Amino acid sequence: MPEIEVFAPAKVNLALHVTGQRADGYHLLDSLVAFAPAGDRLRLAPADAMALTVRGPESRGVPEGPENLVLKAAALYGPGPAAAIHLQKCLPAASGIGGGSSDAAAALRGMAALRGVAPAAGAAVVKLGADVPMCLDPRPARTRGIGEELSPVTLPPLPSVLVNPRVEVSTPAVFKALASKDNAPMDEIPAFANAADCIGWLARQRNDLQPAAVALAPVIAEVLGALEALPGCLLVRMSGSGATCFGLFESDEAAAAAQARLAAANPGWWSAHGPLGDQSEAAAARRTL
Ligand code: C5P
Repeated sequence: MPEIEVFAPAKVNLALHVTGQRADGYHLLDSLVAFAPAGDRLRLAPADAMALTVRGPESRGVPEGPENLVLKAAALYGPGPAAAIHLQKCLPAASGIGGGSSDAAAALRGMAALRGVAPAAGAAVVKLGADVPMCLDPRPARTRGIGEELSPVTLPPLPSVLVNPRVEVSTPAVFKALASKDNAPMDEIPAFANAADCIGWLARQRNDLQPAAVALAPVIAEVLGALEALPGCLLVRMSGSGATCFGLFESDEAAAAAQARLAAANPGWWSAHGPLGDQSEAAAARRTL
């Protein structure tokens, strides 16, 4: 059996409305998510026992033991053929772009391919993390419930820059600091004619976690301001519970130039650029045809 490679793209919440809270404390969300060409990579090699190595520019502090979501995800398949998994970490941890969730989802896909079975699904997957189900098939989707109710959405590719100021923000702390947990859901999602049309709609939606995250980590406001000041920037917002923010730009060229300027001016910040949209394996196969 040859090695299996799986891509774990960054997840971006283009909008995120907090619409309520469940009895168990989890919050009800209404969110539009898309995926970035930036991401982590997993390589699974058949082995006698499960093992994990973590390397790459963002690997510092990421555990290689059983507490890593990648090994927790693989364990859902029970006894049987095992893999030595290599995780190449390119996304900053705890940063609102679903790095850990996307890694777990990629491990679920990789192990399913290794075993020749369907990827795990259901409550056990949600238990790994509320964002894991949406990362299993990384296509644009409206997500409801705590993140596990998915409806696919067709989006035009959105030229973007992602920026993280290298401040870790605690997701539970952000939810706890919310002024209101009972906000209006997103507007109905129309069929978008083009990226400008989609960005116009997004401008009327929100990330309800943004004010609380900015209060906990004021540098997020700096990131949003720096993105907004770049030529060709049409919309800025935070993703998830932060601290990663995104800017949507009028073209891929404007986004690339903006990222270069921003990285030069802020060498300590992590950044990436590229069109947000569909990063599923089906879309990747279509692109290489
Ligand atoms: O599911 P995940 O591990 O990503 O969630 C981390 C924490 O974020 C949860 O323990 C919970 O405090 C908070 N959370 C929430 N509502 C959600 C998702 C996460 O309150 N829908």
